[in-house]
Amino acid sequence: MSAVNQLAYVAATTRDMSAWRAYGTEVLGLEIGTDSNDKLMYLRADERHHRLAVHEGDNDDVEYVGWEVANHAALDAAAAAVEKLGVKVTMGTPEEAADRRVIEMAHFTCPHSGVRMELVVGLEQVFTPRFRPTRDLAGFETGDIGMGHVVLYAPDVKAAAEFYIKALGFGVTDFAMIPGVGPLAAFMHCNERHHSLAFMTIPGAQRKIQHVMFETTTMDDVGLTYDVCLDRKIDTTTPGRHHNDHTFSCYFRNPSDWHFEYGWQPRRIDPATWDTEQYVLRPGNAWGHHGLMEMV
Ligand SMILES: [Fe+2]
Repeated sequence: MSAVNQLAYVAATTRDMSAWRAYGTEVLGLEIGTDSNDKLMYLRADERHHRLAVHEGDNDDVEYVGWEVANHAALDAAAAAVEKLGVKVTMGTPEEAADRRVIEMAHFTCPHSGVRMELVVGLEQVFTPRFRPTRDLAGFETGDIGMGHVVLYAPDVKAAAEFYIKALGFGVTDFAMIPGVGPLAAFMHCNERHHSLAFMTIPGAQRKIQHVMFETTTMDDVGLTYDVCLDRKIDTTTPGRHHNDHTFSCYFRNPSDWHFEYGWQPRRIDPATWDTEQYVLRPGNAWGHHGLMEMV
């Protein structure tokens, strides 16, 4: 069983807060948290205080990724398991916990992607006012299976997967294989979501993050998002369906040049009985998502 219950939040750094402010509401359809300021913007997608945080900084990449654990004992156990693999874990300061709106937090640097990973307890729940999308959008499927998924670059996806299996009890749902080369990506689960974390290997990738996915409530949400991107001339793939999680989705670029995926009806898995699969990237194996290979 995974030590992690769900993907709690993802934070980015950007040099252009004003572009993100407009993008967050008008393109993503998320709500800006009322306690945001000039240097930090919280974006809300459900009953949690935030699911995205955007910090002003001197680069455009992921800043940290938050993983929710059940309680203090689970945090201690997860931290010990990470340290056993030779990776230093540091307890978050009270200021950092307050910034994340969590009760407590520990963090370590992922040895495969270089991303700061945070283990957190008790991300603030907001009962009312309820989340209200800021454009025509039904909403997002989150709850117990988390905000969606995050895909990071790593030079060795098999080694990265092995680390998260041993350290935090993730499972590999499947590997995407390139014939004659090996695995391009590893898709990993910590609950019924097909993948909450994935690693992809792209030599020369300019950033640590490839994309963040939100699961939309309706198919129309994906179509409406695609139309918003066309209207605003935002770089996007065509809608399509994936080999592995069967999601109907499209990818679109954000002001920091990495991507979001809005996807509808990804299949669920049973982590207790799932056997790792592989699929092979061959032309004709799935439809749509034209332009995806250029979106690195
Ligand atoms: Fe995705």
